[in-house]
Formats: sequence, C-alpha cells, structure tokens
Amino acid sequence: MLETRNLTVRFGGHVAVNGVSCAFQPGTLTAIVGPNGAGKTTYFNLISGQIAATSGEVVLNGRSLAGMSPSARTRAGLGRAFQLTNLFPNLSVLENVRLAVQATRSGRHLRGLNLWSIWSDHAALMRRAEEVIVAVAMTEKQHRPVASLPHGDQRKVEVALLMALEPEVFMFDEPTAGMSVDEAPVILNLIRQLKADKSKTILLVEHKMDVVRELADRIIVLHNGALVADGEPAAVIASPIVQEAYLGVVPAIAMTHGVAAPQSDFAPQMGMTETP
Ligand SMILES: Nc1ncnc2c1ncn2[C@@H]1O[C@H](COP(=O)(O)OP(=O)(O)O)[C@@H](O)[C@H]1O
Ligand SMILES: [Mg+2]
Repeated sequence: MLETRNLTVRFGGHVAVNGVSCAFQPGTLTAIVGPNGAGKTTYFNLISGQIAATSGEVVLNGRSLAGMSPSARTRAGLGRAFQLTNLFPNLSVLENVRLAVQATRSGRHLRGLNLWSIWSDHAALMRRAEEVIVAVAMTEKQHRPVASLPHGDQRKVEVALLMALEPEVFMFDEPTAGMSVDEAPVILNLIRQLKADKSKTILLVEHKMDVVRELADRIIVLHNGALVADGEPAAVIASPIVQEAYLGVVPAIAMTHGVAAPQSDFAPQMGMTETP
C-alpha cells in the first residue's frame, strides 16, 4: 500500500502541497482532480522523488521512502510515465521498450555463460517487449526512432515504458493530454486493463469528467495544495466543493470546507471537460 503522510512542499513562500495524508489501496484506481495549479503534478513529483518534500513522508508497504532517489523508488515499485527526456530518442520504439523490460529484469542475465539461459532470457524479453508494443497499438511504428514520431505517439511510448516496468503503483498525469481522438482510447483501454488486474494501485490525474466517472473507484480533490475532498466518485462529484470549483455555483458553501471560495474567473481555467 502507498501512503503519503502530511506530505508538504514549499517553494519559497508558496505551499504547493500542503499536509496531504492519503493511503492508496492495491486494486483501486484513484482519480486526482483539482484546478490548474492545485498541486497535482507536484504531488506526483513528491511521491516519485523528483522533488524532495519539505516535511512529511511517502511510505510504500510500510517502508518510508525518505531520501530515496527517483530510480530507487522505481525499483521499489513506483511507476511513473517517463518524460520524453528519459527516452533514447534515436533508438526505435521497440528498442526503448526492450531496454525498459531489460532494466526491470536485470540480474537474471548475470547467471554466467550459460548460453541456453541467455538465449531463453533474451527470447522472454523480446516477447514481453512485443506484448507491450501490441498493448499500446504501436506495432506498425515499432521500428521508427522515437524522435521521429508525432507527439501523441511519443506519449504512447511513455506509457509503454511504464507498462514494461510492471510497477506496483502506476501514476498517470493527464495521460491523454495532447492525444488525438484515435489515440486517447488506446491509453484509456490500457488503464482499464490495469484496473481489471485488481492488484495494481493506480493514480490518475485527469480533467475529463466522463473518464473519471467511468474509471475511478475513488476521487480525491486537491485545492491550493490541500486535500479538500476524498471519497466515492458520485459523492465527491456531487459535493458542494466540487460543484462550486468546477461549475462555479454556490460559492458560500465551499467556505464550510475550510477552503476559500474560488475566484469568479476560476471555473473557466479548470479545464475539466466532458468529452463530446
Ligand atoms: N519547481 C517549482 N518551483 C516553484 N513553484 C512550483 C514548482 N513546481 C510547481 N510549482 C507551483 O506549484 C503549484 C502547483 O503546481 P502543479 O503541481 O503543477 O499543479 P497542477 O498539476 O495541479 O496543475 C503551482 O502554483 C506551480 O506554479
Ligand atoms: Mg499538472
């Protein structure tokens, strides 16, 4: 189980994530919603170790990850979609995925010069890499250098690398942003499959409410870095705080949740939309 305990980060005078305590159970998909600048990406950065917390901690299966580098956290089971900068841009899609599979399963190769085991491991790696390529619907483009692909395909490669790592915790930060209407369903299907597995912990930052409604077992809402709502999707969506923040109604009620009512120009910036 992944937990954050009082997780806080300050950038100068600004508290971007403010005392967030939350536990995420395996087999559960939690959607993280909130306006732009609410601290969602920063929360992921704190969990994955890209930035250091000012206070509080991240705990995975009872073990504090304090002081652990992002790569050590990846090895511990935290999976976050790679940024393009982590890819080898001149290598093909298949080669990148194969490297990720290999990195995940490294160690098994160090069994000495047993040609049979080297060959069978290699075959297994290739099979797994090909499975991942099929899962992200990139078979036709698997031999293209990643740098030559359009943005949407590059984002699919990021998700492919995440799949290849087979982490315990999957973190998706607006995974379909910038994807075409043909590409987005591929990624959403993958997330559906991961969810069907029922053993994975999935965290999804997503603005599209229809996607959230369909996929989320639970929704948490961040606002000004603080966790302001947490619960079953229908209840959270119907809650005054979300109705106010996203739909711009009943401003007074938000105050009862200890959160300042959003500005009147706030709703249009939310970017939370229904897919037509
Ligand atoms: N490295 C950083 N240095 C300073 N401020 C940052 C940094 N990263 C994020 N912020 C600020 O923290 C707040 C939360 O940002 P972010 O986590 O990206 O929000 P969200 O993903 O919810 O849109 C914003 O005000 C943003 O400007
Ligand atoms: Mg963000």
